[in-house]
Amino acid sequence: MFENLKPQPEDKIIKMIGMYAADPRSEKLDLGVGIYKDATGNTPVMRAVKAAEARLLETQETKKYVGLLGNPDFVNAMRELVLGDSVDAARVTGAQEPGGTGAIRQIFELIQMAGPDATVWISNPSWPNHEAILKHLGMKIGKYRYFDEATCGVDFDGMMEDLNRMAEGDVVLLHGCCHNPTGANITLEQWGLVTDLVLAKNIMPMIDFAYQGFGDGLEEDAEGMRSMAARVPEMLIAASCSKNFGLYRDRVGVAMAVCEGDVTLTKGAFASLNRANFSFPPDHGATVVAMIMADPELKADWKAELEGMRVSMLALRSGLADALRRETNSDRFDFVADHRGMFSRLGLTSEQVDKLRDEYGIYMVGDSRFNVAGLPADGLNDLAKAIAAVL
Ligand code: LMR
Repeated sequence: MFENLKPQPEDKIIKMIGMYAADPRSEKLDLGVGIYKDATGNTPVMRAVKAAEARLLETQETKKYVGLLGNPDFVNAMRELVLGDSVDAARVTGAQEPGGTGAIRQIFELIQMAGPDATVWISNPSWPNHEAILKHLGMKIGKYRYFDEATCGVDFDGMMEDLNRMAEGDVVLLHGCCHNPTGANITLEQWGLVTDLVLAKNIMPMIDFAYQGFGDGLEEDAEGMRSMAARVPEMLIAASCSKNFGLYRDRVGVAMAVCEGDVTLTKGAFASLNRANFSFPPDHGATVVAMIMADPELKADWKAELEGMRVSMLALRSGLADALRRETNSDRFDFVADHRGMFSRLGLTSEQVDKLRDEYGIYMVGDSRFNVAGLPADGLNDLAKAIAAVL
């Protein structure tokens, strides 16, 4: 039966990983997939993670199943980290999922169960896997304007105009912070305006929250989303520990629902979706996170290390913006310093992106999204020269 299979569309980020790995040049630069790298180019296991893992190895006495919804201490810790005290804990139910992507997938399926006719509106552009998963599930997709190519900021008027076209019961997918791929984010005031619209039109907000702590800080990055959570009757959140705990391959994420009243039905739906899709979620990374969050010393150390990562990305942003100002003799790329999170888009054509790859060994996603953490602190001038040369 395999002859019936059709070639599958390639994910542009995954494609980039393969191309980079296959490039034999020693002088090459990976600005593709969103993985944090330190100044030496390594993606370290965070200190608190190492310590908790060592403790877990010593103390774990069984590998028996935990539960369909995962480790309740982890889910609870994530609720606190993500939502703070913006919502009464009794209104929130959550399920541990394999990574942020697993959480997104389960939430989409929950939407399908609860509102089979709902259209899920994603930003244009958005993380490519949002659209891919929705298509895979056969769900209806809407797109709202988001990025203004001219200002490299958010096209908020266009966004609101498009969101106004949504029907009651539709879902709006928002990036909680650090918009991927653009790095341009809505302000706290604009979160308020989107919340007004969500309430007026009876729309379900869904938040993809994969980069908490990578923008303006752990609490600051959650402010907009929490301001919305405090006002809406229902809300869905997919949060990831891949980036802020560096647990990429361990697949640690959580799907949360803020409910109007009783959480029983939503909780049951999450449990049943987990059972049908993979049964019990992977435990290791989630338990490591739960241990860190329950131990004041480990938690403080994790926060300090995360803050160091955030600050170093900000320094790389301003360093690249400075170098590009010098090399291009223009302020065209100043936005790089103003954006937040792991990514920005340079606004290059796909030919220019190809040229950077072919002639200079510099890899970024085809839409000119680059990973800020991959920028070489001591090679920003050379990079800016190469970018200027392909313009
Ligand atoms: C990215 O956007 O590069 C990350 O979220 C990794 C991924 O899975 O695409």
